Amino acid sequence: MSYTTLLFEVLDGIALATITRADKANALTDTVINELGHLARRFRDDSALNALILTGAGPKAFAAGADIGELAGCDPAKAEALSRKGTRIFREFELSPKPVIAAVNGLALGGGCELAMACHVRIASENARFGQPEVLLGICPGYGGTVRLPRLVGRGRAVEMLTTGMTVDAAEAHRIGLVNRVVPQAELMQAARALAATMILPAPLAVAACLRLVDSQDALDLDAALLAETVAFAGLAGSEDFREGTGAFLAKRKAAFQGR
Ligand code: COA
Repeated sequence: MSYTTLLFEVLDGIALATITRADKANALTDTVINELGHLARRFRDDSALNALILTGAGPKAFAAGADIGELAGCDPAKAEALSRKGTRIFREFELSPKPVIAAVNGLALGGGCELAMACHVRIASENARFGQPEVLLGICPGYGGTVRLPRLVGRGRAVEMLTTGMTVDAAEAHRIGLVNRVVPQAELMQAARALAATMILPAPLAVAACLRLVDSQDALDLDAALLAETVAFAGLAGSEDFREGTGAFLAKRKAAFQGR
């Protein structure tokens, strides 16, 4: 499928998807959301793709949220459909067994902030800003903002951001745990690629287990989460990659993982 709002590229097994609505601050129209949905499935199903980086075109915005022109025409039924679809698609990125990285190149507002938060990790350029300004439009976040923001930055900070619609700059986003690191804008994509490369170097099944266990623990109590880790640990001990990883260490050679 060729996209109209996404640029899709692959280099060394790492997919890069760029939202290409720079003249509209990469606002998330229904078409962008649909194309992100296709992208999530394509990434999931293509075994040649080991990691995915999401970014926005231009120096201004990663994505400035849902397209307000489209949003303005929503009645409750349309708003529910819009929220359900976007939430499902963003969740697909989050549930990916392969790393998904947001390279936040500018404003990440509303749905843009929510998209970044649904990625496994976030790298921001120094000019990035984050916020959930929906309340200033008379609505609340609809793509997981009230759910993921408190989990990343804590309730107090999340409530302040959500209820005021304030934005935080990249340095503050880093300080509160909303982004993993901040780099100069010119170095953003290189840094995102470098991070992706380090995340696809280890054993893929073990990486997938870490992503799944971190995700699922929110729904479990402490003992159930610890048990889930034990079950995964035991399962991985039966994998070829476990034999390879431990064997390579003991033989003082580099491991060659196969993902099985
Ligand atoms: N939906 C639709 N269009 C948007 C948009 C959005 N969320 N964000 C920006 N745009 C459009 C603007 O309407 C403008 O289009 P135009 O050139 O046809 O008039 C274009 O993108 C550039 O935005 P502009 O406001 O001129 O640039 P700016 O640098 O002054 O401000 C923003 C950029 C992102 C800070 C500002 O546009 C903004 O606040 N956008 C809304 C953010 C928001 O509330 N998001 C949550 C939505 S739920």
